[in-house]
Amino acid sequence: MRTSLLALISLASSALGYEVKTPPLDTDWTYKVGTDPWPEYPRPQLQRSRWQSLNGIWQWGEGTSESAYPQGTDVLVPSCIESALSGVMQHAQTSWFAREFEVSKALKRKGDKILINFEAVDYQATVYVNDELAGSHTGGYWRFSFDITDLIKEGKNTLRVDVFDPTDAQGYMIPVGKQTLNPSHIFYTPCSGIWQSVWLESVPAQHITQLDVAADMHGTVDVTVTTNGGSNNTVHITVTDDSGKDVANARGRANKAFSFKVGSPSLWSPDSPTLYNLTVTVGDDKVTSYTGFRTIATGEIDGIKRPLINGEFFFQFGTLDQGFWPDGIHTPPNHEAMVFDIKQLKDLGFNMLRKHIKVENALFYRACDELGLLLIQDMPSMPVNRLPNAEQQKEWERQLDLLIEQHKNYPSIYTWVIYNEGWAQITAYHPEEYLTERLKELDPTRLVDATSGWIDHGYGDWHDNHHYANPQCGTPFYSLASTPYDNKRIAIQGEFGGIGQNVSEEHLWKVQAAINTINQTYEIDETIEAWNYRGHVLLSELRDQVEKWACSAAIWTQTTDVEGEVNGLLTYDRRVLRPDVDQWKSDIQALKDAAKARNGKK
Ligand SMILES: *[C@@H]1O[C@H](CO)[C@@H](O)[C@H](O)[C@H]1NC(C)=O
Ligand SMILES: *[C@@H]1O[C@H](CO)[C@@H](O)[C@H](O)[C@H]1NC(C)=O
Ligand SMILES: *[C@@H]1O[C@H](CO)[C@@H](O)[C@H](O)[C@H]1NC(C)=O
Ligand SMILES: *[C@@H]1O[C@H](CO)[C@@H](O)[C@H](O)[C@H]1NC(C)=O
Repeated sequence: MRTSLLALISLASSALGYEVKTPPLDTDWTYKVGTDPWPEYPRPQLQRSRWQSLNGIWQWGEGTSESAYPQGTDVLVPSCIESALSGVMQHAQTSWFAREFEVSKALKRKGDKILINFEAVDYQATVYVNDELAGSHTGGYWRFSFDITDLIKEGKNTLRVDVFDPTDAQGYMIPVGKQTLNPSHIFYTPCSGIWQSVWLESVPAQHITQLDVAADMHGTVDVTVTTNGGSNNTVHITVTDDSGKDVANARGRANKAFSFKVGSPSLWSPDSPTLYNLTVTVGDDKVTSYTGFRTIATGEIDGIKRPLINGEFFFQFGTLDQGFWPDGIHTPPNHEAMVFDIKQLKDLGFNMLRKHIKVENALFYRACDELGLLLIQDMPSMPVNRLPNAEQQKEWERQLDLLIEQHKNYPSIYTWVIYNEGWAQITAYHPEEYLTERLKELDPTRLVDATSGWIDHGYGDWHDNHHYANPQCGTPFYSLASTPYDNKRIAIQGEFGGIGQNVSEEHLWKVQAAINTINQTYEIDETIEAWNYRGHVLLSELRDQVEKWACSAAIWTQTTDVEGEVNGLLTYDRRVLRPDVDQWKSDIQALKDAAKARNGKK
């Protein structure tokens, strides 16, 4: 009796206290999230069997946890505290998250270590377990882990996370992408706090800390297995195909690069996104992962520099993809919602996406790998119209390394973007020169778009022009903010389109300040029919440029409406799809056909 009463009380103080707030606009998923969010295994490229999710209802408050805990309000983890899904829906520069947890019996095994993993906390996190410091971390978009074996005990443990997020704060300049405390048109609501999964895992004392795998079109697999100790331990790696059959067994040493071959692998491409599973063991540690065989290169076809995927050029057409949600801000409400966007793009015939100055959770990249969508991945920018000091620049560059280190194993990513439209881009010297070299060193298997739009000094593989609404892709004519096409690099229209249509109030982000900025959209079309007419005109113009000039790839602005922007293929709530599907499919196919017709033509 007593136990069940206690259980009831504890239920009352946790699950019953949390309630999703009413967002300015909801989605079909908002009220389906519940109190067990993101139950999926969070790290598909380094999976272990024993893990325990710490997602769910935590306590939250402003200030720091030491004095305040346990006097908090209920919050959903993971979520941005500014989102309705968090149950908080307010910004705080300094705040804390806390919960109790027990290490489940299934997780504990004698001699093993217990790690706590955070997939992303915006911006600084200081983590305490049973009032002892476990560690701290800076950077809102990256994964980090602490070994908490010596801090945990039998039964209940307390976990506290103090968060500091100086978005827009005086004296700070940090990677924020589109986040601002004063949202207006192309700048949106910020995200603070634990916005991706938190989980425990059990690992042998000596274990794999990083698994780097790059597999190319010739079947060569380059592997580096990094461990936390022991430099000469044997690594066993097995590659299995999608029927579960072993296609290679290889051996190497930990902490040392090695290669092996798989005979005639099925290649990964957006049209045929074949993946192979991997099993890797070192000593007592065993992890599973996956890879795709593909080669990204540049080459000259008929005198024009082209991006080659597995030795071939095909037109790469994608969208500018912000990854914002009206109910979750940076955190998609759930996996189904996140994948909905990707599937919608695939259905229209897009084969690429530019993940715009934001980084997603690992399952997003896994979904692009699985469904076949090439990715151009931007580094999250520091704020527009400001320049960093030397220390801020150094910290941003450190985080650029993290972007590469944590994402260089996804087959779908084929290009890194350093700068967007001159934002926080130092021009007194050219940081993109050494940063391009640095990226090529960290990851020689991909292309670099050093400056997407505006301030171009000739670095990187792409020559990237932004122009609204109509494209100027690899053309010998250009407008003021851009530079003439440079035929030593590949031509990409890094942004164009951006045409808007103000559907109806029910699909708008109902914040008056945002509604007041809708008229800043490059173009507003009165009806969806007019919008589709304009879409057809712009895609036809792009096709002309593919036929006549050097255009190899283009990015349409944008996947969805966001707050005061009404220029998405989808409205912000994902309930209205603007494109006339048959028309867009045929216009996109025409781009691909135009590029194909030029392949190898003398
Ligand atoms: C590493 O190599 C050295 C020298 O060959 C050997 O003495 C040692 O036992 C090896 N250690 C492990 C963990 O295999
Ligand atoms: C490959 O791994 C994934 C994820 O662990 C699993 O769901 C899938 O069944 C595996 N495929 C095969 C053919 O074993
Ligand atoms: C846009 O609308 C706002 C508020 O409705 C108004 O103050 C502003 O002048 C308008 N701007 C333009 C460019 O029309
Ligand atoms: C867009 O629609 C909303 C709601 O119907 C309206 O309040 C707003 O003035 C419209 N803005 C423009 C620029 O059409």
